[in-house]
Amino acid sequence: MSNILKLTRRRSLLFGLGSLAAISAVATSRGFSHHQQIQTLDDPERDFTVSQELSLKQRAAKKGLIYGTASTKKYLASDPAYIAAIVENCSMFVPEWEFKWTAGDAMLRPGFDQFDFTDADWIANFAATHKLLLRGHTLVWHESLPKWFKETVNNKNAQQLLQNHIQTVVKRYTGKIHSWDVVNEAIEPKDGRDDGLRITPWLNSLGTNYIDLAFRLTAEYDPKALLVYNEFGLDYDTPEADAKRTAVLNLLTGLKARGTPIHAFGTQAHLSPGSNRKFNPEKLRQFLRDVASLGLKIMITELDVTDKNLPIDIKVRDRIVAAAYEDYLSAALDEKAVIGVITWGLSDKYTWLGEFQPRPDRKPVRTLPLDAQMQRKLVWNAIARAFDNCPKR
Ligand code: XIL
Repeated sequence: MSNILKLTRRRSLLFGLGSLAAISAVATSRGFSHHQQIQTLDDPERDFTVSQELSLKQRAAKKGLIYGTASTKKYLASDPAYIAAIVENCSMFVPEWEFKWTAGDAMLRPGFDQFDFTDADWIANFAATHKLLLRGHTLVWHESLPKWFKETVNNKNAQQLLQNHIQTVVKRYTGKIHSWDVVNEAIEPKDGRDDGLRITPWLNSLGTNYIDLAFRLTAEYDPKALLVYNEFGLDYDTPEADAKRTAVLNLLTGLKARGTPIHAFGTQAHLSPGSNRKFNPEKLRQFLRDVASLGLKIMITELDVTDKNLPIDIKVRDRIVAAAYEDYLSAALDEKAVIGVITWGLSDKYTWLGEFQPRPDRKPVRTLPLDAQMQRKLVWNAIARAFDNCPKR
């Protein structure tokens, strides 16, 4: 090993220890160490038992709810056991990549005037074959834009591009889509605008009207689909989430007031126990009540729970993750405007969190209802219990 490399390694080790010390110093100065926080999250006595031999979709259906998952062709095409688990538990499916402009291995929009429907059609066919309701995710988003987008799009051609995209994609699947995430993640109060809108390529090229425009166009080409505005970061009791909830409510209120065809609100619900952010069920209930009072349905669109801040011990980890699911869902499902729950994956074998929220110890993450061998974990029970115990809609 060269000296430089040795030095760099030592430095990064020192830096690592230094930042750990800094984190625990912060935690201790608030009178609450990470260790203490984990202890308050974990209740070894907590009961996760379920009665009756019913799948998740059956338990959901008993309450008038839909349960589903997201995944991609890449995983499904080579894994019959995974498909079987999805069919057993889910009545709804969301393509994690294929309906985006580009994501993972999929490329729906290879060029300004070009579409490649190979993968999206595969997904639509998969959903039809297995009698799964299909969600369209997503038409307008600041992420997952192909490389050519930045080089080509300006305020002269953006409207034509959006119109062509929505017309071509939505029309192709008219009648096959339960709900479209028409616009995804358009709010970011930290960007500093009075209206809370995120500064995105769409906002820059089309102005604030782009959200209304996208909904109107989608309604034109699929008048029967449920049109959804989808957002993240609304789950915890923090000043950031307060600001975001307020901005989202303002956006939704404005859309409804202008008669824009929006029918539902999607809250992603990517949860993170052990991150120092407090979950406040009453605040979540109030927010969902406020959304529902606008006459909107609600979907929990991307539920998952990162275990990256949790201990290595699998029993403890699984309990805390399961508790986060059940606590969140039992509050959210009290709101009868909630019509469906989608987890962002079904098995730990395939989850974006392995890459996006890896554990510091690099152990495989345990975040979803089934383990990597498709066996039920406590999370499965937690979701089942939340369905069993929620009011019927
Ligand atoms: C994620 C996928 O899971 C990843 O595989 C992909 O590479 C990036 O996008 N919010 C969303 C989803 O609306 O589309 C994102 O999905 C997760 C966050």
